[in-house]
Amino acid sequence: MKQTILTGLQSSGDLHIGNYFGAMKPFLDLYNDKKDSANFYLMVADYHALTSVRDREALKASIYNTVRDYLAVGVDPEQVTLFRQSDNPDHTEMGWVLNCMVTVPFLMLAHSYKDKVAKGLEANAGLFTYPMLMAADILLYGTDLVPVGEDQRQHLEYTREAVAKFNNAYGEVLKEPKELILEAVGVVPGTDGAKMSKSYKNTIPLFGSREDIQKAVMSIVTDSTGDRPENVYAIHKLFRTEAELETLYTENAGKYKNLKEALIEDIDAFIEPMRAKRAAISDDDVKGVLAEGARKAKLVSNDMLGRVRDVIGITI
Ligand code: ADP
Ligand code: TRP
Repeated sequence: MKQTILTGLQSSGDLHIGNYFGAMKPFLDLYNDKKDSANFYLMVADYHALTSVRDREALKASIYNTVRDYLAVGVDPEQVTLFRQSDNPDHTEMGWVLNCMVTVPFLMLAHSYKDKVAKGLEANAGLFTYPMLMAADILLYGTDLVPVGEDQRQHLEYTREAVAKFNNAYGEVLKEPKELILEAVGVVPGTDGAKMSKSYKNTIPLFGSREDIQKAVMSIVTDSTGDRPENVYAIHKLFRTEAELETLYTENAGKYKNLKEALIEDIDAFIEPMRAKRAAISDDDVKGVLAEGARKAKLVSNDMLGRVRDVIGITI
């Protein structure tokens, strides 16, 4: 029996190399490692995005961009079922069933809701029931493993709680999934040495032009003492082996400009094939991939939802 591995993505603007090494690459490594022994599902969580996005064009663009990003970094839609949540209404229906299994006080403890409220932000009812839509995403496919970042661990606990409540009432219908916390390369530092993050404006864009990369690298903060600019080195390590860097940094001790130029070359050479691939993906290509993904996803989720409808007494 093949394992089922599923994850979902909410897009969050232009990707940077921190997102790549922190989230996309660990997913790709897992995929390359397990593609013969597992079925992979990659879902664009556009209805989850609606809990926070109120701009029509922004939501549309983020759907296209998320799919394009993943295709460009090497996800093969022939091997991975790449689809979006809103294309398969089984998710919202299953989400409703699961909402009926859990209590309000339980949902009030979810970080996704609690953190917003703590910040004084307005929480809509969709945000409140967010964990049960995510549980539906996972449970409809009999998922075994869910690769996610640490911040999503609690949502997997919520999913298991929904399974327990459901199965307790109706028998062993839903499968209990496990989280697989992706091992990031550690924190990728930004141009100022702090964590690279779009909120800090210290990013090196993943699909930026050579000029974008140049601008970002040249802005890396270097202290004027010492032979080795640590902030440059810390980013360079992602693109070259330590042995290679040892030689380069010894030969160019104190020559910060040379080292930055070498880093620009290395980042550009790394990104160029992905950038070219991404540029060649049209909106119609994205639509084609999503249509085929939705078709494949529904074949599986319809089955599970059918069983759920049957055991709860909705099928008459
Ligand atoms: P940002 O901080 O730019 O808003 P997100 O919070 O949207 O990034 O993160 C998306 C994914 O990328 C998460 O899985 C996160 O762990 C990963 N990630 C973001 N920044 C970094 C970084 N500097 N180093 C490693 N991983 C990162
Ligand atoms: N909540 C996840 C996030 O914000 C995205 C997501 C939605 C997801 N549905 C999922 C992740 C199902 C894994 C499985 O990152």
